[in-house]
Amino acid sequence: MIDAGPTLRDFDAAGFLRDYWQKRPLLIRNAFAHWSNPLEPDELAGLACEPEVESRLVRRTAPGQWELENGPLSPSRFGELGNAPWTLLVQAVDQHIPEVAALIEPFRFIPDWRIDDVMVSYASDGGGVGPHFDQYDVFLVQGLGRRRWRIGQSCDENSPLLPHEDLRLLAEFETMDEWVLEPGDILYVPPGVAHDGEAIGDDCMTYSVGFRAPSRGDLVSAFADHVLDSLSEDDRYTDPDDAAPADPGEISSDALARLHSMVTGALADRDAFSRWFGAYITEQKDDRVDWAPEDPITADNLVSARGGTVVLERNSAFRFAFIRQGEDAVLLFVGGARYACHGAAASVAQRICAKTEFELENETLRDPGVEELIVDLINRGYLAPD
Ligand code: SIN
Ligand code: CO
Repeated sequence: MIDAGPTLRDFDAAGFLRDYWQKRPLLIRNAFAHWSNPLEPDELAGLACEPEVESRLVRRTAPGQWELENGPLSPSRFGELGNAPWTLLVQAVDQHIPEVAALIEPFRFIPDWRIDDVMVSYASDGGGVGPHFDQYDVFLVQGLGRRRWRIGQSCDENSPLLPHEDLRLLAEFETMDEWVLEPGDILYVPPGVAHDGEAIGDDCMTYSVGFRAPSRGDLVSAFADHVLDSLSEDDRYTDPDDAAPADPGEISSDALARLHSMVTGALADRDAFSRWFGAYITEQKDDRVDWAPEDPITADNLVSARGGTVVLERNSAFRFAFIRQGEDAVLLFVGGARYACHGAAASVAQRICAKTEFELENETLRDPGVEELIVDLINRGYLAPD
C-alpha cells in the first residue's frame, strides 16, 4: 500500500479558485505539510530509456539556443552530455510511479477529468526548456534542488516565436516576476502566461501537474465523428409540400432552417453526448501498464480469495470518472470503457472514482451487480486486488 501522499498545508482552495485559477500566477512557498521528493533522478533516467514512455532531452547549446532530442534515450546518452546545460523531461510519470500519481491528490479541488498528467523534469545547472507558454494550467512543484522561474506576459497563438523546427520558444519575454523555488514550493501558472525556468545548480527536479481543457474544435470534430457512425445515407434533406420557390436562384431561409436543424439536431442529444464524452475524456492513448490477470478470474475466485474485505487498487495508467444518471444509477467510465451501474454497483462505482485504493466489504461484493462490475474491471486490468 502506498502512503497517503503529500497534502497541502493551510491551502484555501475556494479562495484560490476565485482569485487565481485560470487568472494569474501564484507562488506557494513551502506548500506541503511534509515534502519528500517522490522519485530518484536515476529512476527518471531509467523511464526515459523505455520505448513506451514519452520523453525529451533539451540542451542549451549556446545562449538563447536550444536543441531537442526525442526519447527513448540510450542509457549511454547521459554520459555523453558534456557541459551544455540540459534537461530531461518525461511525460505521464504518474501512470508508471504510484508515488508520483499521489502528487495529483492535493489538487483534486479540480475534477479528475481535467487532469492531464504529471510530467517530471531533471535538469543540470542552467538547464531548462526555454521561455514558452502552455495552453493549460500547470502546478510546477519543485521536487529537488532549486530553479529560478521568471513569469512573463500573457500570450496567445499570435505571440511571436523564435524560428525553431521543434520547440515553440517565445521571441519576446517581458519579465513580470522572478522567484527561486526550493523543494516543496509550488508555482501555479495559468494558460497562456509566459514562463521560463532555469536550474540553479545540478539535481533540479520539477513535477508539472498539468491540466487539459478540450478545445471547441476538438470537441466538435470528435463528437461529430462519433455521431457520423450512427447516421444513415438515407437520412436526407426533404422538400416541404409547397416547394415551389419564389425565386429559383435563392437558397431560402426555410430551406436553410431545415438544413441547419439537420446538423444541430444530430448533435443535440444531451444523453448521447454524456455517454460519448465520458468515454472520450477517459480514453487511453495506449495500453501501457497491463494488469490483466493471465487467467481471467471468476466471481468464485473473488469470493473465495476474500476474507472479510478485499482491498482493490486502481491501475494508475487509466482514467476513472462517473456521470450521474438520476437517483441511484451512474455511468462509470474507465479508460474509454463504459459501465452502466445501478443500486449497490452505482455506489461502488463512485467509491472507485473517489480513491485510488479502496476496500470492499464481503456483503457489498455479494451483490450480483457489484460482483459483475468488479470481476470485469479486474479482468481488463483496470483494478487489481492489493
Ligand atoms: C520544466 O519542468 O522544466 C518545464 C515545465 C514547464 O515549463 O511547463
Ligand atoms: Co511550461
